[in-house]
Parts: sequence; C-alpha cells; structure tokens
Amino acid sequence: MGKAFDIGLERLTASDGLPEWKLESAVKSDCANSPVDFLQGGAGTFYLETFGCQMNDHDSEKVAGVLLARGYSQVETPDAAKVILYNTCSIREKAAQKVFSRLGEYRTTRKEGQVIGVLGCVAQQEGEDIFERAPWVSLVCGSASYRKLPEMIAQLEAGNRRITGLDNDTDETFETEITRRDNPFRAYLTIIEGCDKACSYCVVPFTRGPERSRASASILEEVRKLADSGYSEIQLLGQTVNSYADPGARKMRFADLLVAVAEVGGIRRVRFTTSHPRDFGKDIVDAIESYPVLCDHVHLPVQSGSSAILRAMQRTYTRDEYLEKISLMRAAKRPISITTDIIVGFPGETEKDFAETLSLLDEVGYDGAYSFKYSPRPNTPSLKMEDAVPEEEKSRRLAILMEKQKAIQTARNEALIGQVFEVLVDGKSKKENQWYGHTSRNQVMNFSSQRQEILGHYVQARVTSAVPNTLFGKEDEVMRQ
Ligand code: 5AD
Ligand code: SF4
Repeated sequence: MGKAFDIGLERLTASDGLPEWKLESAVKSDCANSPVDFLQGGAGTFYLETFGCQMNDHDSEKVAGVLLARGYSQVETPDAAKVILYNTCSIREKAAQKVFSRLGEYRTTRKEGQVIGVLGCVAQQEGEDIFERAPWVSLVCGSASYRKLPEMIAQLEAGNRRITGLDNDTDETFETEITRRDNPFRAYLTIIEGCDKACSYCVVPFTRGPERSRASASILEEVRKLADSGYSEIQLLGQTVNSYADPGARKMRFADLLVAVAEVGGIRRVRFTTSHPRDFGKDIVDAIESYPVLCDHVHLPVQSGSSAILRAMQRTYTRDEYLEKISLMRAAKRPISITTDIIVGFPGETEKDFAETLSLLDEVGYDGAYSFKYSPRPNTPSLKMEDAVPEEEKSRRLAILMEKQKAIQTARNEALIGQVFEVLVDGKSKKENQWYGHTSRNQVMNFSSQRQEILGHYVQARVTSAVPNTLFGKEDEVMRQ
C-alpha cells in the first residue's frame, strides 16, 4: 500500500504497488511547502507515516482529515513538516522495533520547533515510557483520542513539553465525517472497534480496548453519503468485524448489516475484514450468496491446524469446527475465495502440530495466507508459556509453510485461466495499455485494454496466465459494458 508494512516478506497474497492516484496526491500536497517554510504560515505542515494493518491505514485517514480540517497541509517528507507523526503497529516485535528505529533517526536530526508524535498501538502499549526511550518525542496518542490532536499540538506549541492521549474505551473514533480518504473509489469504514476475544498471543485487546460497535443507522448514513460522493466499493473494518452487535434500535446482526449496506444505491462492492471463525455463521454465507454486491472473498484466520495449539491460543474453536465454517462457504452457489492468517512456532507447537497446519492448507485450499513466526508480546498470557520453539525452527517451519502455500496458490490461480472476472481498475501500469485492479475475489489482476480513462471503472477481463499472487489477462471485448 505504499507504506511501511512489516509483514511484506512473509505475505503470500499480492501486495500492491503505490497506486498512481496516491503518487499524484503526494506530488500535489508536497509543492506548497518547502523545507524552509515549515514553521511559517497557516496552521503548519504534517508528515504522517503508517505501519501495520488496514485499521491503521484507516485511522491515518481520520488523522489526516482532522488536521486538514484545521488548516494543516500534508507533506511527503519529514524534513518539510512541522509535525511528524508515526501511526504505529505492535502486533509483532519486529513491527514495534521498526518504529523505534525510525524514531532513532530523529535523535540528532530533529529541527527546533518540530513536534514528533507516536500514534496507534505502540503509543497505547508503551504509553509514557516512549518519552524515556525517545526523549525527543513530545506527543503520544492512542486511536481513541485522534480528534483531540489539534488541541494537543496547540498545547505543545504553547509551551507544554509533553502530552499524552491514551483513553481506549471511547467511541469517538467513529466520528469520521472529516476523514480524508486516500482512495477515490474504495472507502474504508470502521463498524466495530477493539476486541473481546483474548487470544493468548495477541496485544490487540490491550492496545485497542474492548469491543464497541457503531450504530447501524449511523453506518448506513455514512455509506449513503459515500455512495453519493462517488465511492462504489465499501470495506467494512473491525478486528473481529463479524462480532458486530448493533447498539442502535434496529439491533442488526452482522449479516443484516451486510445486506443493508449491499442494498444502498450506487454501491457495487462490499468487503469486510477480519472475521473471527467463532462468529462466522451460515447467515453470512447466505447473504453473500443472495447479494452479488457482497464480494466473493472471506478472510478467515485459522492461526493453526492443530486443535491442541488452538486451545493454547484460546481461539475458542477446534480444527473440525473451523473446517465446518469452510464447508459452509464451499457449499455456496457462488465460489468464495478464502484467505487466512497462520502463526508458526507457538510455544509447545510440536512437529506433529505443525504437520496438522500443513495438512489444513491442503484441505482448505486457500487463495492467500499471511503467515507469521510467533512473536512474544508484552501483557499477553502466552508470554509466560513454556516450550518456546527456537527461532531457527520457527524460520524453518515458516519457509516450509510458505513454499507449500505458494504451490497451492499457483495451482488454484492456473485453474482460473480462461475465466472472466470483473476488475475495479485501481491504476495504470508504466507499460502501455496495461492496467491493474482487484477482482471481487480480491485478487490483483494486471490486464491490457485499448481504452483510455478506465481508472475507477469496472472492466471485464479474461485470465490468460497466472502466478501465485497475480492474475494476468486482457479486457474481454465481448463482455465489455
Ligand atoms: N505473533 C505472531 N503473529 C501474531 N499475530 C497476532 N499476534 C501475533 C503474535 N504475537 C498475527 C495473527 C493475526 C494477524 C493480524 O497477526 O495471525 O491474525
Ligand atoms: Fe487479536 Fe484474537 Fe482479537 Fe484477532 S481475535 S484481534 S488475534 S485477540
């Protein structure tokens, strides 16, 4: 996504390049502010870098919206900024370390008057300790306090040395009317914040607090506004998006909400991520089956194929129960693409447990898998578990798993050759007449088209060849709309 992303190397599904519309906006916002005038004029300039997941991407859109609405302008280099903000991820140690090494760069290069702020999960997790580790940081702010950022920055400018905003159980982050969305066709929308699931390895319940769902009436109103302003794809977000429980009078379940969003005029695609297997039921599959607007893709993290490890992870389902959810999807009339997350080397994971994860890959036939080495995290129950798997063994298992999944994806993608898919065109590649976008199955497709100006359009393209992470094809003349 054109941002620092800690799992790039481990990821088996395709990762996007920097789409052209992002490059364009980067250039536009850059020219107004030269490095010398960053302290002068208007409310000032800010630089914002995002690490981690889609929730963080979307949070950054909210941060940018809040600051732009207050007269700030965004610049593309820290050098040119009065306020430097890092929206951070702490899901694995490597991600958190990356933030501190980035902050380290400012120990000596920070300019007089520049504000350096840490936002997001590392902020929430480390709190004021960040000031000890990086004394040149003056702002530490968790996701529930982003609306207060302009006031917090103003206080720093008024002479306060340090400021924190670390509440994590308010629903203020839902007020997204001033969000500055990065993509002109696809809009993220948070429907549930936080997580109540307590998986034994995971920091999210600590960094993002308890589950809070947003009222369906407010979600639907925003979807209608987004449709009116030209967005055709909506991506509903939540750490456990399908645990959604409407606090409003309509008391919608997640599947009801999916249908209601799908019925909004002008919306052509609805995606949702991430689903938790425990709350994934037939009602969701029925909704997908009945509404083609609901994309043919479900991301359903399994984490391990061994019931013993799933129990130790406190995932609240067994291998067989997970496979029942997969059967529900495989029984749907429309093929549904399934992707997952897997952790290897959880404490106590034996060779036999790992073999069960490998056999699960074959049994399910995933179209993509994000795989990770287990990383011990502060405050989590698994931190104290015995039988740690040595680092080299985790690496060995990860490599085997990735190799296997690559072979599965190659075979599955090659089986798509000759089929036609609808692609929402995200960008134009440097090669002449070459475009790229995503299918409803969420696969990246590069295709040729003689037409111009198809950015943001829905195009029918036929697959002519495929690699594990990408389909290649050409626009289907017969089916052109
Ligand atoms: N170590 C490794 N991977 C983790 N994940 C979450 N916590 C950890 C951890 N401590 C992975 C899970 C989750 C994804 C977002 O990150 O697979 O689904
Ligand atoms: Fe973390 Fe588990 Fe919640 Fe996902 S469901 S955010 S892995 S605690």
